[in-house]
Amino acid sequence: MKRAGALALFSALGILVLVAPWPVSPAPAGEREVIVRARQYAYTPGVLRVPEGVRLTLVLEADDVTHGVRIDDYGIDLVAEPGSPARATFMADRRGTFRLRCSTVCGSLHPFMLGELVVEPNLPMWRAFGVAIVAAAGAVTLLALRGEPRPPGPA
Ligand code: CUA
Repeated sequence: MKRAGALALFSALGILVLVAPWPVSPAPAGEREVIVRARQYAYTPGVLRVPEGVRLTLVLEADDVTHGVRIDDYGIDLVAEPGSPARATFMADRRGTFRLRCSTVCGSLHPFMLGELVVEPNLPMWRAFGVAIVAAAGAVTLLALRGEPRPPGPA
């Protein structure tokens, strides 16, 4: 493989990693606050979607009677009375789907008051990771083709 060919190949690979459509929607990590409204016998929204690695503040607001929300896998257990929201902040660092369940008896259908927390792959993070790997592989290949070591140029 010639040097120009290798350069073109790795440039194309890097661009592909950057722009290729992935099966889930991208979302920036960082901090995020999600307000969950609880009312007999459901949460709104019923499904919370956050990117992996986000620092999530969950705010529980009770609309009618006292409700709770528990996420066992994250050790979260909040109880909110009407007019008095409860909040918890944690790192959503485990990917997957986690069950939300009401942790306070709030009526006859309390056991069925459920929701979901979905922690999705963090696309910007994985794309950046992928580009870094491609760039490193490209630099190593170019150096090998060149025959003598040389500091890598700008990515
Ligand atoms: Cu809501 Cu129990």
